[in-house]
Amino acid sequence: MAFFMGIDVSTTATKALLIDPDGRVVGVASSEYSYETPRPMWTEQHPHLWWQATVASIRQVLAESGVNPADVQGVGLTGQMHGLVLLDEKGQVLRPAILWNDQRTAAECDEIRARLGKERLIRITGNDALTGFTAPKILWVRNNEPEIYARARHILLPKDYIRYRLTGEYAIDKADGAGTILFDLKTRDWSREVLEALAIDPFWLPPTFEGPEITGRITAEAAAETGLKAGTPVMAGGGDQSAQAVGVGAVEPGVVALTLGTSGVVFASTQEPFIEPEGRLHAFCHAVPGRWHLMGVMLSAGGSLRWYRDTVAPGTDFDTLLAPAATVPPGSEGLLYLPYLTGERTPYPDPLARGAFVGLTVRHSLAHMTRAVLEGVAFGLRDSFELMKAVGLAEITQVRASGGGARSPLWRQILADVLGVELVTVNTTEGAAYGAALLAATGAGAFGSVVEACSAVIRITGSTVPGPATEVYQRAYPTYRSLYPALRPVFYTIAQFVV
Ligand code: XUL
Repeated sequence: MAFFMGIDVSTTATKALLIDPDGRVVGVASSEYSYETPRPMWTEQHPHLWWQATVASIRQVLAESGVNPADVQGVGLTGQMHGLVLLDEKGQVLRPAILWNDQRTAAECDEIRARLGKERLIRITGNDALTGFTAPKILWVRNNEPEIYARARHILLPKDYIRYRLTGEYAIDKADGAGTILFDLKTRDWSREVLEALAIDPFWLPPTFEGPEITGRITAEAAAETGLKAGTPVMAGGGDQSAQAVGVGAVEPGVVALTLGTSGVVFASTQEPFIEPEGRLHAFCHAVPGRWHLMGVMLSAGGSLRWYRDTVAPGTDFDTLLAPAATVPPGSEGLLYLPYLTGERTPYPDPLARGAFVGLTVRHSLAHMTRAVLEGVAFGLRDSFELMKAVGLAEITQVRASGGGARSPLWRQILADVLGVELVTVNTTEGAAYGAALLAATGAGAFGSVVEACSAVIRITGSTVPGPATEVYQRAYPTYRSLYPALRPVFYTIAQFVV
């Protein structure tokens, strides 16, 4: 029997997963690590951690599932997007990777806008320069560590470093390529104009591939380390958000993936490249060949609830925490929560944005505050939907919710009410690693296309439709919208006296 492997190189762990040709998960193994914060707002991780965790997870999933490595017919890769891995001419790592959530590159973002012009940058790449993206990180190394930059010969993203260790090939998928903002969004490849303007050597960048395409094969050395069979094909896969979307079947226009993890991501698949003129939504290539997507990223979605729980009711499980909030009327009797605990990306790309409870009275209890957190996050996600509608995205007919937060029926109802759209859950719960395995299966010929793979294996398991509270939230939303502009000057003042 044939099996397919998905490997997800995330910020906190690397996971290896095996599926059979019917899309059933036959084994999952994961190995954790942490990241360094050498200075406030900086985040780094050494690529050798990913490799050790990859080897451990592959060995474990093969051993526990009993799958014969000779039956693994394809490996698909996914992982944290935007991180910068620099290698020298011998393929040796030059410095720890600078991660997607690192905020050190504000000056380099300005430099990129100055070199290209913001409008031109957005027109070509689909995106403004944000501190999280890869290009400003490259410039930061050039500006701050010239001796390292002088030795650099290869630029890779985290999962593509693992690809290099598995296959000896330098390669990247189109979704992660677009997330570097060195990409021409329309032509789905590196932009000569952007590379020239930023003076980055095009030979440092790997060739780009569509998600199911084969990028190389497991080498004898990697086979000896991981237990996989030498010669097994490794497919391009995709950045974690596009692989996650494949994993829940958000591959057709009109179907949106809503992922409620620490961050909250709204991901809409499109037939053509759509661009938000201010760059407030990310516009990247999809892992589905010839498709694109628009994405809103909220930094503290599930993260808001976790912070709140850990602060007011440490040790309480989420079900116990949320139960009293169900008895509070929609709108939390005038209490609003602003969810920018770690700054924000969409709709305000502002590292200095902060969180707030607004409207507190003596009537408000902890249950009100809990509900206000759930509602505030839902309003924040609605901002992404509004931006998508404003750029002319065809009607959103269904939202596929996944991630830890989507397990709460109360939060799902609040989301359906605030967004005014049907929210469904699906049978696949292994996220990006599952999507990567489907991309591998498609590349190996088990399915005719990624869309066909998704419709063959992904089933709707539950549905939440907008209820009577929709109208209350409709009225409350403009007040929520007014909070950030009103509080912004306060956030900037606060930033001056708090380092
Ligand atoms: C997407 C993004 C995150 C990272 C971390 O733009 O920054 O999803 O990929 O997982």
